[in-house]
Amino acid sequence: MLSKINPTQTNSWKALDEQFANNDFDLRSLFQYNPNRFNEFSIKRPNFLFDYSKNLIDSKTKNLLLNLAEECELKDAISKMFSGDKINETEGRAVLHTALRDFSDKEVLVDGENIKPQIKRVLDHMKSFSESIISGDHKGFTGKEITDVVNIGIGGSDLGPVMVVSALKHFKTRLNVHFVSNVDGNHLAETVKTLNPETTLFIIASKTFTTQETMTNANSAKDWFLKAGKQEDVAKHFVALSTNVQAVKNFGIAEENIFEFWDWVGGRYSLWSAIGLSIVLAVGYENFEQLLRGAYDTDQHFQTADFGENIPVLMGLIGIWYRNFYAATTHAILPYSQYLDRFPAYFQQGDMESNGKCVDRNGEFVEYETGPIIWGEPGTNGQHAFYQLIHQGTELIPADFIAYAKSPNKVSDHQDKLLANFFAQTEALAFGKTEEEVEAELKASGKSEEEIEFLLNYKVFHGNTPTNSILFNELTPFSLGQLIALYEHKIFVQGVIWNIFSFDQFGVELGKVLANKILPELENNETVNSHDSSTNGLINYYKANK
Ligand code: F6P
Repeated sequence: MLSKINPTQTNSWKALDEQFANNDFDLRSLFQYNPNRFNEFSIKRPNFLFDYSKNLIDSKTKNLLLNLAEECELKDAISKMFSGDKINETEGRAVLHTALRDFSDKEVLVDGENIKPQIKRVLDHMKSFSESIISGDHKGFTGKEITDVVNIGIGGSDLGPVMVVSALKHFKTRLNVHFVSNVDGNHLAETVKTLNPETTLFIIASKTFTTQETMTNANSAKDWFLKAGKQEDVAKHFVALSTNVQAVKNFGIAEENIFEFWDWVGGRYSLWSAIGLSIVLAVGYENFEQLLRGAYDTDQHFQTADFGENIPVLMGLIGIWYRNFYAATTHAILPYSQYLDRFPAYFQQGDMESNGKCVDRNGEFVEYETGPIIWGEPGTNGQHAFYQLIHQGTELIPADFIAYAKSPNKVSDHQDKLLANFFAQTEALAFGKTEEEVEAELKASGKSEEEIEFLLNYKVFHGNTPTNSILFNELTPFSLGQLIALYEHKIFVQGVIWNIFSFDQFGVELGKVLANKILPELENNETVNSHDSSTNGLINYYKANK
């Protein structure tokens, strides 16, 4: 069990309160008075650089944040997670996505049983199955090779694979991998429109195998398939990824086509498990293993590096500084890589479903802020959409900038242009443009005194917007694994300090229950009056117009 410490009652929190009240951190001055700032506030790993110098902190703030981590017993929490303690107390489960990528010889015990052999068994199954599909040995019901794979899942059973398959497009096998998640039938319909049932493999990915969206899509996919194939052909075209083996069998999927995982793998942390089968098919098993190895590398760093040099710990603590002291409500993730187009959406679930909680580990409502809103889009597109507000709006929006030095596709000077924007944005956000600078610029451009007076304030950039920069040498399966695990552990660090349970998600239940109550009301012609007047009005309007 994790300790249950209210962070606001610690000495370091009180000291941080004072530190915030007595200082007005200004990035221009912080850099001016400390020429060594970049060296002091950046960490070099063998294949990437983490630069956190453009944050509103000095050494004292950093030390106070590190003290907070000590006082909240973060070290103990990390070791409990990795060793299989049931730290997901509200669901009575261990949290062991890290065991899925643990390449050491150490045993990991759950209820006294070493889980490593089961993990290995499923990985071997994924390897042999994917090899038979990719090589074309596995044939569809008319003897043709599989060309297309459709992963049907939602939330954690979709977003991780979607994100990784997009990120590793450059490593693609001959298979085309598609994803259907939304219960909106158009998602499935538009996906299968161009597919041939003879050459299509469906992966039904659902931890519980009860999720309405996934089961609806799975049944409709089966109906689509059965228009061409027969019931006995289903075995060649449908596989399932689930912890609920019995429900999979009831659906009609043969036991040998089930890739199992376990309740100690949280849905939003499951891409490392059998849920990663679509990734394996998209990029091949070797690349999937490299992804796992990258995550393992971060796991070791997280467990062994001193907190002052520990990247996920620092990411988490700096986030707390902005959320709880600067009252920042959101945090942007801005990858300067089109390959990472789904990375912000993936960690929107990862972070918001984990730390969007208002009850602490003592069962009390918290009196401080917890998880921020996570959002973002790839640069440079975002620059032409929402950066205006980050630069000149009224909100403080801390952001992470992620980029890669090398690009696998050499296309004229695109890469330098991309990176020029990456560097320019964090510089502009940090240092802005002062009144004096704007005035001098307007004068030099020949503007009159009157025009300058009018334009001056509009052209000022307040700056002082904090950013982290994560600059990798190259986007590879290994470095992607490292990056994903950095964010997973950042979320963990924050959850531990906020004294909340990060691994349940009761907040998604109520909507599901109500939708199931409403569904039968939509299936007849009667006027509905069992809800509030707004809900009744909306339902009756829909029924009249559907
Ligand atoms: O949205 C709630 C949730 O339980 C997520 O945590 C999970 O990733 C998703 O639904 C899908 O669940 P399942 O894999 O059981 O279909």
